Amino acid sequence: MAELPGNLILIGFMGVGKSTVGRLLAESLGWKLVDTDTVIAKVAGASVPELFEREGEAAFRTRESQIVLGVCAGQRQVLSTGGGAPLREENAVALRGAGLIVWLTARPEIVAARTSRRVGQRPLLAGEEEPLTRILRLLSERGPIYQRLADHIVDTSDRSPKSVSAEILRKIGAS
Ligand code: S3P
Repeated sequence: MAELPGNLILIGFMGVGKSTVGRLLAESLGWKLVDTDTVIAKVAGASVPELFEREGEAAFRTRESQIVLGVCAGQRQVLSTGGGAPLREENAVALRGAGLIVWLTARPEIVAARTSRRVGQRPLLAGEEEPLTRILRLLSERGPIYQRLADHIVDTSDRSPKSVSAEILRKIGAS
């Protein structure tokens, strides 16, 4: 088995399966799963949609940075990050230094279908604009940022979380 990184970090857009795949990876590696949105909600005592509603996106991003910088100090964690977590440069630098980064992708139509199931959970996709239009716009802004950070890119379109997790374990030399 290859030498494992300090942490395994999942980045990517909403609906690509970071939390589900992260859980499977953490189980396989025997590492802790840290989902940044879950930690933000726990620390704030409010859900992510509630925080967006109550405090706005900028305040959420500040909370997100505090959590990302904090968790990056740990080891042997699978970090499942919110889709916007790599956008702030300080977060990107911290994530880059914390371990191996896997960018999970999915075709925009698949992201739209997956995120439409629990639309209240994704405040960025709520609002007037057609979700697919919004997704395409955000993806074109964020794609280069995800790409720059990624050690590996794994497409999750038309695949089960189990098969995605198995591919990641193979790529990092853990299976
Ligand atoms: C966001 C993604 C969400 C959550 C918040 C903002 C984004 O996490 O952090 O709603 O900016 O892409 P998921 O990627 O887990 O849905």
